[in-house]
Amino acid sequence: MALDNIRLEVMNTVEKSVQGFIDKYLIPVEEIWQPTDLLPNLQTEEGFEGVHQIREEAKELGYDFWVVLVADMVTEEALPTYESWLMDMEGVEQHDASQGKSNSWAKWVRHWTGEENRHGDTLNKYLYLSGRVDMKEIEKTTQHLINDGFDIGTGRDPYRNFVYTSFQELATNISHKRVGQLAKRKGNKMLAKMCNIIAGDEMRHYMAYREFVKTIFEHDPSEMMLAYVDMMKKKIVMPAQFIRESGQGIAEAFENFSNAAQRLGVYTTMDYIDILKKLNDYWEIDKMRDLNDDAEKARDYLMALPDRMTRIASRIAVPQDPHTFKWVSNNGML
Ligand SMILES: [Fe+2]
Ligand SMILES: [Fe+2]
Repeated sequence: MALDNIRLEVMNTVEKSVQGFIDKYLIPVEEIWQPTDLLPNLQTEEGFEGVHQIREEAKELGYDFWVVLVADMVTEEALPTYESWLMDMEGVEQHDASQGKSNSWAKWVRHWTGEENRHGDTLNKYLYLSGRVDMKEIEKTTQHLINDGFDIGTGRDPYRNFVYTSFQELATNISHKRVGQLAKRKGNKMLAKMCNIIAGDEMRHYMAYREFVKTIFEHDPSEMMLAYVDMMKKKIVMPAQFIRESGQGIAEAFENFSNAAQRLGVYTTMDYIDILKKLNDYWEIDKMRDLNDDAEKARDYLMALPDRMTRIASRIAVPQDPHTFKWVSNNGML
């Protein structure tokens, strides 16, 4: 109970800096890009040429590519799950704004959500226009994923949640960037630009969340370290961990999607390890003093973890046969 009070105290202290984080890491609505900036304008005749261009360029992209793009889009579209999860963290107060009780953490979550919402929106419109995927099957998957929720092992603890979001924002930065590179290599400029610009948002979000953790480390180093090690021991699960296709049980599509992403090199075990190294470095856990005994042990474990995981990763083989999904028909474009 005492520990919880310290967490709340820390959250209330850091809360005073959150408006500054919003100003630094998020972009005001009037200045930031919108999905329609990247898509054909269907209010003009030229817009239809843009659609034709999307459909022509889309013919060059392979089966696994579409699977990964669909699953990435669906992951983004499950944003209601993430917003409600973060709003539920200890220290976030969204009620009674008029009485001054709603706090800047709630504002952060809302504004972060507002930015994130543009990602699924952009990719959804692109996929719809591409004509290469079965939108109804994809829509069912999205609805299932929102219905199924997720369980990322953080509970309501802000420390654990911010480790998770730091990790995940960088993971999505990497995967969107790689999808963009693959699209570019196939001459698909419009899609490459969309993926790159989305990846840029993810990078800003990553920088913000890792800063939240760094600030918490300054106030409560041992507890922050224990939260970090706990998340890494559990392993950071993907937000789409429960993804399924219509007619399937919960989570049944996840492994095949993850294998497709690994085959394409969009997101691999080595990326996971790299993120861990980057977080260890940024938080400078090697230099951290004033840790209690348990936190010292946790730090040592975290420092050794990247090498340990690299040894294990080299022994894991990814299945090479593409799996057929309802989202993407095999017979290509109509
Ligand atoms: Fe996103
Ligand atoms: Fe994100």
